[in-house]
Amino acid sequence: MPRAENIKSADSGESLDAAGFRRDLRKWYKANARELPWRESQDPYRIWLSEIMLQQTRVATVIDRYKEFLQRFPTLVALALAREEDVLAAWSGLGYYHRARSLHRAAQFVMRECNAQLPETAAELRSLPGIGEYTAPAIASICFNEPVALVDGNVERVLLRVLSLGENKRSPAMKRLHEQATMLLDVRNPGTHNQAMMELGATICLPRNPKCSECPVQKYCKTQGEHETTARKTMRSQESVYLLATRKKGTVTEVLMMKRGAEESQMAGMWELPSLPPELFRNSEVLLGLRHSITNTNYYVRVLASKPALMEIAKNEHGDALVWKRQKMLNTLPLTGLARKVLQRMDLLHRPPVHLPGNDRQQIE
Ligand code: ADE
Repeated sequence: MPRAENIKSADSGESLDAAGFRRDLRKWYKANARELPWRESQDPYRIWLSEIMLQQTRVATVIDRYKEFLQRFPTLVALALAREEDVLAAWSGLGYYHRARSLHRAAQFVMRECNAQLPETAAELRSLPGIGEYTAPAIASICFNEPVALVDGNVERVLLRVLSLGENKRSPAMKRLHEQATMLLDVRNPGTHNQAMMELGATICLPRNPKCSECPVQKYCKTQGEHETTARKTMRSQESVYLLATRKKGTVTEVLMMKRGAEESQMAGMWELPSLPPELFRNSEVLLGLRHSITNTNYYVRVLASKPALMEIAKNEHGDALVWKRQKMLNTLPLTGLARKVLQRMDLLHRPPVHLPGNDRQQIE
């Protein structure tokens, strides 16, 4: 691996003291790293799960879902043996469900082909479903001490600013950035170094208003935060209306739900409340109003209480996809994030059941 103790910045031609950078970064991380549940362990399954959940999802959102997921599927084998529907249910609220499907398929592959042991190199890890170019080095460096650098969105921003490089997503530029990350890597502590770089990007070297005065590597930084960062994505708006219908059967409460079609491009096969055509209900009284963001779309959501006329419209719109579900069983369904949010706000969703090995699986009615 090429080592350069002085790294040249492309624009200024000045060089950076790589050894000093590594040392100061590591010292800062040791003293300031956030206490996060996946940092309490080096168990490859746990680290792998955290890295998949952290793809495109904020730390604050991941923490509880991560703990709950591990209660339900405490080991790679428990995950591999689970039904996909149960895995999706445990994932609901995190979005990007292809990640849960890939994780499940990868666990099955590893159990079958690798004696339930996760491969130890980034190159091998990359061959598993859902493990991409930054998740592979993250797992390999954190769990197995492989000296491989990673460049995720946060690390990219740190490197561009420190080295004063222009933003350029074309692959030769990204390759050069990866080479710079490799030259900066602390090969004796690659997992700590990679996490420290990500932590710096997530907590100090922020996209807007970076906290340069608190930065442990400020003295090495060529731009001091004066760097053009990615433009804020423009958000689209969309309105949506849902029906919340409940009924009592003896002492049992049921909620009217619907399953998204297998052909849907997003969240196929997941469960949600029945939707209604928004244009019919612009002036209706709402039970609950909320905003829900998915990637670059803000959904302005109105939830209406059930009335015979609304039930009629829902039946015409969705027919057989509508199913009455027992309220107590809702947490076993793969719910969309929005359905989960609405049901929680309406106090209709219980905590998920804790999976204990040997217990009978809860049945979905
Ligand atoms: N983002 C993704 N993985 C991370 C990690 N291990 N530490 C901090 N931020 C992350």
